[in-house]
Amino acid sequence: MKTNRTFTMIKPDAVANGHIGAILDHITKAGFKIVALKYTALSAQKAGEFYAVHSERGFYADLVSFMSSGPIVAAILEKDNAIADFRTLIGATDPSKADKGTIRNLFAKSIEANAVHGSDSDENAEIEGSFFFSAFEKF
Ligand code: TYD
Repeated sequence: MKTNRTFTMIKPDAVANGHIGAILDHITKAGFKIVALKYTALSAQKAGEFYAVHSERGFYADLVSFMSSGPIVAAILEKDNAIADFRTLIGATDPSKADKGTIRNLFAKSIEANAVHGSDSDENAEIEGSFFFSAFEKF
C-alpha cells in the first residue's frame, strides 16, 4: 500500500457552484499530483456505502441525500505526507471554523455542503480510492 496518497471528492455543492477548476488549482499549487481523476455521481445507495461509518449519526440521511444530489469529482492525489497535508489544505469540517485560505473556508457553505472530502488515514485513502477507481485508472 502506498502511504503517500490521499483520496478526495469535490462535493455536489462545489461542482454546482462552478468551483471544480479553482479547487483543482489549489490542490495542484499545494504540491499534490493528480494520479486519478473522474467526473461522476453517487447514487443514494453508493453514497450510503461510502459514508457507512456514519450510519448511526443523526446527520447520515441528510448527508447521503446531499452527496447523491448532483455530480462530483473524485480524485487520488500523491504527495509526501499526503493525508495530513491535505487535511490542512481543506480545513475544518465546519467551514465557519476552517482556517482562512483553506479550501473549505474559500468554497464551502455549511458543515454538510463543505465542498471537499479528504481521507483521514492511509487505510481509508486506499479503500476510498478503490471505491471509485480500478487498478487501470490509477497512475
Ligand atoms: P467527518 O468524517 O466528521 O468530517 P470530514 O469530512 O472533515 O472528515 O464527517 C464526514 C462528513 O459528514 C462531513 O464532511 C460532512 C458531514 N457531516 C455533517 O453533515 N454534519 C456533521 O455534524 C458532521 C460532523 C459531518
